[in-house]
Amino acid sequence: MSDIVAHIEKIGVIGSGTMGNGIAQVAASAGYQVLIFDISKEQLDKALQTISKSLSKLSEKGKLKESPEAILKRLNSTTQISDLKSCQFVIEAATENRDIKFKLFSDLDRILSPGVVIATNTSSISVTEVASHTKRPELVAGMHFMNPVPLMTLVEGIRGLATSDKCFQVVRQVAEKMGKVFIEAKDSPGFAVNRVLMPMINEAFFALQEGLASAKDIDTAMKLGCNFPMGPLELADFVGLDVCLFVMEVLHRDLGDTKYRPAPLLRKYVEAGWKGRKTNRGVYVY
Ligand code: CAA
Repeated sequence: MSDIVAHIEKIGVIGSGTMGNGIAQVAASAGYQVLIFDISKEQLDKALQTISKSLSKLSEKGKLKESPEAILKRLNSTTQISDLKSCQFVIEAATENRDIKFKLFSDLDRILSPGVVIATNTSSISVTEVASHTKRPELVAGMHFMNPVPLMTLVEGIRGLATSDKCFQVVRQVAEKMGKVFIEAKDSPGFAVNRVLMPMINEAFFALQEGLASAKDIDTAMKLGCNFPMGPLELADFVGLDVCLFVMEVLHRDLGDTKYRPAPLLRKYVEAGWKGRKTNRGVYVY
């Protein structure tokens, strides 16, 4: 086992959005060579700038073992998925869309060497179903990072139905090498974090909709009353209201319990294009 993990020098990251660039940053900071793939060159350039800024900030605070320049030297990017064939471990962090992920896993299965583990950062799609689009389901597992990846310590590990113990151990050890604390959750909708977090956020929308308290007071209640770093509505804007709605829809559909129905106000905001910080308007205006 330790042989496999010791043998991993180069990690591929699929997707250069918020999660992909955060994962690439922590992988490079942990000493891995990293190749980030995205179909958009513009998005890749933006990701490298974001990583560079984040590394400078962490370096100013004395939180890096090396200079940002030394870490950035280990990061490369490509718009050709076939370039990932030299990677010994791949983390997929593409858009949270079933068809996109299924196609990527089938392509990766063809491109990567036999024995290479493919992890998915999905926050709500079944790992078992993602794995079924490869001929190596025993080498596919969930590796769910939290946003912002460089600051959040957790990685949630998820075993698909066919995931082997060996594969899961590799995923755990790679996460730990990245300085993360690893927990194990079942392949059930929302896993552990979103099963608990999203219904809480959804309930905050129901409370807001009912006029129980203002958005600011709901957030203050949870910040000062429960010591949360961000209130649930502020956190929803940070995560993206479209992402929150998508996860609630998955919980509602797959668990079949009406307690998971999305709050109409959450749906309405998404319909309006008020998706949170990324659109400069969500519950709050930025
Ligand atoms: N890289 C480096 N530095 C960063 C950074 C990043 N990516 N993001 C923020 N920082 C820095 C800020 O610039 C700031 O630096 P200064 O103190 O020098 O100004 C510092 O970190 C602290 O940030 P803030 O002052 O803005 O605020 P904060 O003290 O509240 O910390 C936070 C920010 C860590 C994000 C904190 O608010 C927090 O923990 N919030 C909750 C986040 C959370 O719950 N994430 C999980 C979401 S759920 C998920 O991800 C799963 C899913 O599937 C949806």
